[in-house]
Amino acid sequence: MNCKRVLQWLSAPVLLGLATGCPGSEAPKTGGATTTPRTTQPPQQASHDVPAPSAPAQAPEVVRAPVAPLPLEPSIDRGQKPAPSAELTDRGLKVFATNCATCHGEKGMGNGPASFAAQPKPRNFTRGLFKVHSNESGQLPTDEDLFDTISRGMRGSAMPSFAQLTTDERWALVEAVKSLAIYKDEDEGIEVHFFKERPAGPPVDLGPALAASPELIAKGKGAYLKLDCNKCHSATGDGSGPSSTDLKDDWGEVIWPRNFQEGHFRGVTSVKEIALRLTTGLAGTPMAAFGAGQLTVEERWAVAHFVQAFKKGEPLAQAPKDNVTVAVTKSAASLPSDLRQARFWMDVPVYEIALEGNGPKKARIAVQRDAEQLELLVAWDDPITKARPAAVEDFLDCVTLELGATEAQNAWEWRGEWQRDAATRSTGAFEERGVNPPRLAGNARWAEGEWRVLFVRPLSGNGGRIALEGHSVDLRLTIADRSPEGVKISKSATLKLSTP
Ligand code: HEC
Ligand code: HEC
Repeated sequence: MNCKRVLQWLSAPVLLGLATGCPGSEAPKTGGATTTPRTTQPPQQASHDVPAPSAPAQAPEVVRAPVAPLPLEPSIDRGQKPAPSAELTDRGLKVFATNCATCHGEKGMGNGPASFAAQPKPRNFTRGLFKVHSNESGQLPTDEDLFDTISRGMRGSAMPSFAQLTTDERWALVEAVKSLAIYKDEDEGIEVHFFKERPAGPPVDLGPALAASPELIAKGKGAYLKLDCNKCHSATGDGSGPSSTDLKDDWGEVIWPRNFQEGHFRGVTSVKEIALRLTTGLAGTPMAAFGAGQLTVEERWAVAHFVQAFKKGEPLAQAPKDNVTVAVTKSAASLPSDLRQARFWMDVPVYEIALEGNGPKKARIAVQRDAEQLELLVAWDDPITKARPAAVEDFLDCVTLELGATEAQNAWEWRGEWQRDAATRSTGAFEERGVNPPRLAGNARWAEGEWRVLFVRPLSGNGGRIALEGHSVDLRLTIADRSPEGVKISKSATLKLSTP
């Protein structure tokens, strides 16, 4: 652990447990030695080779919720729109400082103290680039578009829904966001007020809503293939088309085409909004606009229905077999070690693990491996409570996984920190204890009120081979949930990882 990290961790408001580890987790014993917390010698080879006490489990099916089709039109209640005024903007800026600046920064530059937890990053309003708008491509969003984005949030990203604020507060926020969308270059003496200089045009007219029919969906499929949507989104809609790799957004981050099987859209609560999003594209991303030049209005409704029909039900968490055995799914494909590629987790069972303690009561675990590495995903609910806005401390959580029998234990740890790995753009820091040199990597993100922390570890290495096949490996999980009020710690019972 380097000094910077220690300092960051120590400067966190509340500190329990060891300065070098997550609160509530003890440093693991290495090779049975109690006096040497860390050895320069690798522990004995095959330290995780623990004979299986029982027959390996069968890989269970993924259990899914039924799919609820989207309504044809959105139903966001916008209340009465107040007339814009300096007072309204001021009021909006106050609501912004409380609810939004943690992520978007005081000046709306996308660099708030909690921005480290988000992938993609919170929007920098001073670039004048917005993904979601209902008017022609290249235009800024209308007031109604901004109101809707604030109300619905952006699913699959850290941008929460603020439907709990009054409609008046949300209209005030619309003015605040517009007032922050200013590009300034002091050296050149340039100041561009985007919304003053480029007034938003009216929404595109999609006519009356068209209901789904087999004919319309067939038409949608034809247009989807003709316009090469499958090159990015794939013929099965899972986002794995031949042009899906090496895509970057205008903010320099790696981006993947939406996985329609997962069905989480940034700017969609209805079929009409899918049609709007493809009419205008998503500014700043490789998702181009497919407007009147390419698709008739009827075809846009048709493609929207075709796209929504890809959705599979949400995977439902299930109890581990015998209440302890978590099956490891074997993947024939090589796994990407990146949580943003959600399709690699679509067909992996999710287990709900009960936790004891004053922190979260439950966590979800999903585990898979390819030929080279083990990927273990831990998720738990950590929503922004309506009682108070998000604070940086909410994102400084911590997870410890202890693997193996107590004799030759090894601990994997992830800590939320104000830093992102430049190469992986992951949130926080991963550390493998009890093994030298550590070989653990990972990827973490907070979105939709949930933390997802992905631990990635080669199956073999200096710490010995993690022998999964025909064996079972002990696993204990500790989650430290931090908030401005303090740290709450929860632990699981001992589970067993088993590869059928
Ligand atoms: C927990 C972090 C977080 C908080 C809090 C948050 N945002 Fe965001 N916001 C994001 C992220 C992340 C994105 C970018 C999502 C993307 O690019 O897909 C975003 C995007 C946006 C956008 C751009 C929409 C577009 O079309 O591109 C607007 C406008 C916005 N947020 C407004 C707000 C307002 C207003 C608040 C407070 C009421 C707020 N946000 C609070 C994380 C946050
Ligand atoms: C060059 C690759 C590419 C092509 C071609 C492409 N898309 Fe996309 N699409 C993307 C990417 C990347 C995103 C994700 C953008 C983001 O995350 O902000 C996306 C997102 C979307 C979304 C999600 C909108 C939301 O609110 O989340 C829809 C719907 C969509 N595309 C439909 C289509 C359709 C229909 C076509 C063909 C007419 C198409 N795309 C062609 C790359 C592509």
